[in-house]
Amino acid sequence: METVHPNHTIMRRACITGTGAYAPERVLTNKDLEAMVDTTDEWITTRTGMKERRIARDDEASSDMGAEAARRAIAAAGITPEDIDLIIAPTITPDTPWPNTGCYIQQKIGAKNAWCVGIEAACSGFIYGIWMARNMIATGAADAVLVAACEKISSIVDWTDRATCVLFGDGAGAVIVQATDHPTRGIIGGHMGSDGSLSNLLIQPAGGSRMPTTEETLRNGMNYLKMAGRETYKHAVTRMTDSARKLLQSCGLTFDDVDWFIPHQANMRIITAVGQRMGVPVEKFIINIEKYANTSSATIGLALDEAVREGRIKSGDKILFVAFGGGLTWGSMLLEW
Ligand code: UT7
Repeated sequence: METVHPNHTIMRRACITGTGAYAPERVLTNKDLEAMVDTTDEWITTRTGMKERRIARDDEASSDMGAEAARRAIAAAGITPEDIDLIIAPTITPDTPWPNTGCYIQQKIGAKNAWCVGIEAACSGFIYGIWMARNMIATGAADAVLVAACEKISSIVDWTDRATCVLFGDGAGAVIVQATDHPTRGIIGGHMGSDGSLSNLLIQPAGGSRMPTTEETLRNGMNYLKMAGRETYKHAVTRMTDSARKLLQSCGLTFDDVDWFIPHQANMRIITAVGQRMGVPVEKFIINIEKYANTSSATIGLALDEAVREGRIKSGDKILFVAFGGGLTWGSMLLEW
């Protein structure tokens, strides 16, 4: 567990200078799902808030989506791909187990001066990635970092399992993180945590070194995403609320000081419950779950980019990201825009 107050350790202030996102063209609606599994638009809408999700083309991998989101973030930041010295690619659906997806993105966007890593922190990956970028910038180890979360969750979903297949979608969200001399703008603080004792709640059991892919694992569906929905739900609400509260306390602020909350978009009911526990009206949450469903590490980037481009987020606004996912992992981060 790590909580950092801005004034304790900061050497150089880090700031998001550009955002970008990408969603595949193909839309899969709740109605479409009714024809695929035993479900209804009504069940999905009332239980999750989701109406549709995007599905990548067969020939479109996570890095293709990440590269497109990255190009848009690079253009928004007004830099060139050669300016980037580190690429962090959060994803649980890498193009290949290795090389890491950051390397594929590097090649696609021409960021030839960067070194590249992937991180598999599931839905918390975007916040973890930006927090790592912030720390590289704070120490002077990097000047411009691309964080490109990209997910083709449709490639690990069991399309015959109604309990999971209706919940997920594909997409990518990216940011450029750079150093700033501005006295208040940028990343103020972060709070990250994990609990590996609960790794079985959300897991893709086969395909790694513990259980390599065999005909048997394929037959038993062990290569698909598995989730204990109800238990995960409870942990999501408590961990997200707790993390955000601890972060704000460490910064000497309260929930009232925050202009916008951008939560991981796993379930509208989770977002509502988190808002209630925080005593924050749902109007302060940026939500687009109805359009994209749960894109794991990409949800916050997709929501952030949309809000920035729509002009909802304004200079000087305080923004809090908060997420929860497989691992278990969770995290929150506070920024001034
Ligand atoms: O991003 C990573 C983090 N992920 C999450 O945070 C997800 C957390 N979990 C959830 O969001 C919710 O638990 C779910 C949306 C996954 C499920 O909602 P729930 O209210 O917990 O439903 P449930 O699993 O308790 O299932 C209720 C009923 C069951 O039927 P019975 O046993 O009551 O007869 C399920 O079989 O709903 C049934 N059901 C469905 N019915 C129609 C489950 N999936 C579906 C479906 N359509 N797609």
